[in-house]
Amino acid sequence: MSALTESPAWKALERHRESMADVHMRDLFREDPSRFSRFSLTVESILFDFSKNRITEETMALLLELANSCGVEERRDAMFSGERINITEDRAVLHVALRNRSGTPMGPVEDGHPTNVMPEVNRVLDKMREFSEQVRSGAWKGYTGKAITDVVNIGIGGSDLGPVMVTRALAHYADGPAVHFVSNVDGTHMAETLKRLDPETSLFLVASKTFTTQETMTNAHTARDWLLDALDDKDAVARHFAALSTNAEGVAEFGIDTDNMFEFWDWVGGRYSLWSAIGLSIVMAVGMDRFEELLAGAHAIDNHFRNAPLDKNVPVVMALLGVWYDNFWGAQSHAILPYDQYMDRFPAYFQQGDMESNGKRVRLDGEGVDYETGPVIWGEPGTNGQHAFYQLIHQGTKLIPCDFLAPAVSLNPIGDHHAKLLANFLAQPEALMTGKTTEEVEEEMRKAGKDEATIAKLAPHRTFEGNKPTNSFLFPRLTPYVLGALIALYEHKIFVQGAIWSINSYDQWGVELGKQLAKSILPEIEGERAPQGHDSSTTGLIEAVLQMRRE
Ligand code: F6P
Repeated sequence: MSALTESPAWKALERHRESMADVHMRDLFREDPSRFSRFSLTVESILFDFSKNRITEETMALLLELANSCGVEERRDAMFSGERINITEDRAVLHVALRNRSGTPMGPVEDGHPTNVMPEVNRVLDKMREFSEQVRSGAWKGYTGKAITDVVNIGIGGSDLGPVMVTRALAHYADGPAVHFVSNVDGTHMAETLKRLDPETSLFLVASKTFTTQETMTNAHTARDWLLDALDDKDAVARHFAALSTNAEGVAEFGIDTDNMFEFWDWVGGRYSLWSAIGLSIVMAVGMDRFEELLAGAHAIDNHFRNAPLDKNVPVVMALLGVWYDNFWGAQSHAILPYDQYMDRFPAYFQQGDMESNGKRVRLDGEGVDYETGPVIWGEPGTNGQHAFYQLIHQGTKLIPCDFLAPAVSLNPIGDHHAKLLANFLAQPEALMTGKTTEEVEEEMRKAGKDEATIAKLAPHRTFEGNKPTNSFLFPRLTPYVLGALIALYEHKIFVQGAIWSINSYDQWGVELGKQLAKSILPEIEGERAPQGHDSSTTGLIEAVLQMRRE
């Protein structure tokens, strides 16, 4: 047994879980009229209501005890002070420095000494401002003297999902060139994007921390060939390509002028990199001032996370609730449900953010875990989800804690759309919590004039157990600042859970094996050598691919 599952805090939570088995939130609400104010917090204009959870004061006290016994505050302080908490890669974890608007020194610990990366961070931000202003104003000309109308971010994973998500979320504020994203190595993604572009007015941002990722490098080469086919001079590359990377050598080798390189550093994890030069596509779309508002929103949450007591600390409470369901109620997944069309990629963004971070089964001490770690993260914008998968959340056999997020005021106030959207945003958590008893269903059916036989037949199907946990996040409007704050809340929630589970949330060795095998299969698919060393299924499939490609 691990120290975690043997700890008094864990054991106490196990006992408490048993005592909560038959408690229904409906009763908790009935018994305590102040439940909403007791279990809600406000941070940076974001109201976080967590009262619709299977919790009491005792639950929260025990969860906080767990956080304390796992040294969450110490680990948090270690992250902010630049300790190399990513122990498998011997790196600090300092995406918080990228949005450190206070200017106070921050940097990775080198040979036991603190460093300060803020001058470098600010230098790159200044460079991003200068370059983006040139492109956005039309002062930056393509090779044939035309202004840039389209920017294409070529990247994948953290070098794609963050910029895509934020650019879509802030589309209301977009006043720059059209921004496109190509991530998939499937040639269709590039081909369909290029169809809409003019080489003379297109700018490609090759976004890759390592500048070695197969998908990104393949797409970047294809884009360069397309450009050179049209402009027929390799000097054109300097006017149409920029790189966002930590790998200056790789950038130069590709042929991108290092003057057009926007640097970041190994202490920025890929899935935490949208705050760095990787955010340049966002800047192209909405401008540097708005990007800095995004950084400011995240920085405000960093300060909250650093300073608020644990019981008033929103990311800590989010994390503890997740641990409660994940480890003590057997919940396997967690749904993120934004009631804002602009936030349609928010769940996908945190699918990587959370699952690549906390999809781990080995602890920091090298031992295997004997408890569950990161949940499956998924979701879609409401109300589309309501007409797709909510049925299972309401009446299925699985427990799925959900986050509901919505702005009180729409950026597109058309008729009564937003009132209807908000009515759904409020109704779903209420329905999930309250449910509907068999007696209520029978009563309702009687009132509707149904006969007793029909009532007996249909009532079980129309009964809702309820007691389904949800969090609600309500904010005034979706601004860059609020979006930055929301993202940072989730980032720190992931951090706290990683700290409790004692895993390294900042590496991703699990994706490496597939990458290696793909490399070895490529020459076999290209017919350069016979398939070798695979299981019979993989060999059979490779041969079928070869056969179908011949036909
Ligand atoms: O999927 C693995 C991964 O390493 C992610 O962590 C990262 O965001 C993505 O690949 C892209 O990596 P890079 O920015 O180096 O191209």
